[in-house]
Amino acid sequence: MMKPRRSILSVPGHIEKMHRKASKSPADVIMLDLEDSVPVNEKDNARKIVIRSLESIDWAGKTVTARINSLDTAFGYRDLIALGQESGSILDAVVIPKVDHCGDIHFADRLLRGVEMHRGLSRQIGIEAIIESAIGLEKISEIAGASNRLKTLVFGVADYSASIGARLVSISGHGEKEESLYPGHRWNFALSRIVMAAKAHGVMAIDAPYGNYTDPDGLRRSALIACALGCDGKWAIHPDQIEPINTVFSPSAEDIDRARKVLAAYDKARSNGRGAAAVDGRMIDAATVRLARQLWDRAIHLGLVKS
Ligand code: GLV
Ligand code: MG
Repeated sequence: MMKPRRSILSVPGHIEKMHRKASKSPADVIMLDLEDSVPVNEKDNARKIVIRSLESIDWAGKTVTARINSLDTAFGYRDLIALGQESGSILDAVVIPKVDHCGDIHFADRLLRGVEMHRGLSRQIGIEAIIESAIGLEKISEIAGASNRLKTLVFGVADYSASIGARLVSISGHGEKEESLYPGHRWNFALSRIVMAAKAHGVMAIDAPYGNYTDPDGLRRSALIACALGCDGKWAIHPDQIEPINTVFSPSAEDIDRARKVLAAYDKARSNGRGAAAVDGRMIDAATVRLARQLWDRAIHLGLVKS
């Protein structure tokens, strides 16, 4: 099982003092950002600061990633080379935004391979792809299967909305007030499509951030929907969002009890030569057990139960 990626704290690359603070946060992943939270006149400076932080901070076993600028800009290729060459032994993955085509992944994969050979790195630098355009979603199967470096597919809700011309319903455009405009969940199809492609290729699916960091109820709702649709985690854009996200993406005590009950009842049924059993008036069968086993394994992985 991959290390958990329940919460991914996104931190602006040019604001150095936030990096050390982030390293001590309870987020599973720290993502140092060179893209949209960094103004254009700070891009080169941010790259240097991020490289310095990667080297000087004790990341204490955390997963550390950096979001580069998209590969159709004058910054993206320089971010990729510099991060790989200077920080390839520390960085777990580069996060590539606006991935529109499997060629973006092939390009990054080749380039990173060259950097690894040049630097004699034995560990592989991962890739995370943000899907945030109509074309990216259309090409998702090829993107998801483009490289064994791929660790996650991330849904970039704000850029995706812009790409398809969807109406803006909140100040940030990052997943708020969606239900005020559409009966149901406006991004159900896009998110489910991303989850399907991710799981078909054995990588994680990650939901975009929730823009209003003063709205814990909205954040929880948004995280619960992503979790219900099969996502493994969600970005955070403020430290206050980390704990609520970790909670939603961890099995609760109630979930664990239910799984324990199902597994025990099924074992008993099997020893009596049956393939199905009843638990609290519900039928459980091999499919129920698969779900319960998955939850149990996740709980073990997160240290919530012993095997
Ligand atoms: C994230 O990058 C987004 O566009 O929502
Ligand atoms: Mg974006």
